[in-house]
Amino acid sequence: MKVLITAGPTREKIDPVRFISNYSSGKMGYALAEAASRKGHDVTLVSGPVSLVPPKSVKTVQVESAAEMAREIRRFAKSADLIIMAAAVADYTPAKFAKDKIKKKNPSMSIKLKKTEDILAGLGKSKKKGQVLVGFAAETSDLTTNAESKLQKKNLDWIVANEVGKKDRGFSSDNNAATLISRSGKSVKLPLQSKTSLAEKILRFVS
Ligand code: PMT
Repeated sequence: MKVLITAGPTREKIDPVRFISNYSSGKMGYALAEAASRKGHDVTLVSGPVSLVPPKSVKTVQVESAAEMAREIRRFAKSADLIIMAAAVADYTPAKFAKDKIKKKNPSMSIKLKKTEDILAGLGKSKKKGQVLVGFAAETSDLTTNAESKLQKKNLDWIVANEVGKKDRGFSSDNNAATLISRSGKSVKLPLQSKTSLAEKILRFVS
């Protein structure tokens, strides 16, 4: 199968020296890419800025912003049989990029943000027959309700409901736990384990 996987955070530039981002390390997405490659699939990994070494057997495309990630995904999505969006894509980006470093002048300041493109929702709209689309839902509350809502809204086949905000799982940790929910209502609890082991289980279900 041709498998397209995303990993890591995006960085949304404020000025030449500052950006908005999040704590994603890329470990979950890279573990999925490695697991898919070990299974013999043809894997493309679109990665935000992380400090991990890209797996040798995987074609890796490095991006920085949500807009760059959207552009690269459009290049590869059409021919993919399975797409897994594990990246923590920024929901908002600065409305304007300041070309010079912003000076410290006022006691407070605000930055106007605008919505980024929802890449996964776009993939859900253009999904071709037979293509399997898997999203993640990173949630700090109402895990399954919020995840099920994303599954429906984004026209996904599976969603990985991922509780975040705890030290032992989610962002940056070596381990993770999730509930895998399918479009048909099937739900599988995957307890806390290494991201490598969780990635293998997710792949087994969705492929
Ligand atoms: O990288 P690690 O440190 O290993 O951490 C792993 C993880 C916690 C980042 C990962 O397991 C995870 O939960 N990834 C999804 C993070 C996220 O952005 O979730 P969300 O609920 O905000 O977004 C829902 C889905 O829409 C995600 O599949 C996301 O990739 C996608 N999305 C979001 C915003 C956007 N503009 N475009 C998108 O495609």
